[in-house]
Amino acid sequence: MRVVAIDGPVGSGKSTVAKAVAGRLGLPYLESGAMYRVVAWAALRAGTDPAAESALTDLATSLDMEVGARVLVNGADVTDELRSTEVGRAVSAVAAVAGVRAELVRRQRAWVLQHGGAVAEGRDMGSVVFPDADLKVFLTASVAERARRRSLDETADDLARRDLLDSTRAVSPLIVPDGAVVVDTTARPVEEIVDEIVGLLPA
Ligand code: DC
Repeated sequence: MRVVAIDGPVGSGKSTVAKAVAGRLGLPYLESGAMYRVVAWAALRAGTDPAAESALTDLATSLDMEVGARVLVNGADVTDELRSTEVGRAVSAVAAVAGVRAELVRRQRAWVLQHGGAVAEGRDMGSVVFPDADLKVFLTASVAERARRRSLDETADDLARRDLLDSTRAVSPLIVPDGAVVVDTTARPVEEIVDEIVGLLPA
């Protein structure tokens, strides 16, 4: 079973690159951020207090979610709603809750086992969820480039705020995992980055 872990901050190119690497390798693509967004989306809908850690953990545990090309909650397609500004603003607080993380890490490992491997993308794929991945990649890009990439759905302020929360939280902060290869995606064509990453994979 092959696992490629791809981490990095907002706008570093994770989704685009991870999807393309998955396509090239014929592996399923796991977007772990979608699971965090589902919990934030459900909390907003239920009016759950973002500071109520046990209520958020219960929500994460009880939700019926299916993550793939489309994201389903209780069978309903919520994919587009997960990208809303409201969800973007709420998600970092939700992702800082230890109980939520424990449950979603469990779901991510189960997903990869069930799918027979993956290119898994997020913030802690190489550091926490798949420490024995065949390859760990940490993507970076200049702040200006990251803000430009996300300018349609997130302001530079929102991006900076989310970066800070994600990298300074107590549980599984965004870090360069041990053994990860750091790849700067600024002003580089996707295909070239994919070639580099696929070339790093042990035979
Ligand atoms: O990749 P994204 O922007 O959709 O992720 C949404 C949020 O979820 C992000 O601000 C941090 C959190 N997240 C996380 O803490 N751990 C992951 N493995 C993936 C996402």
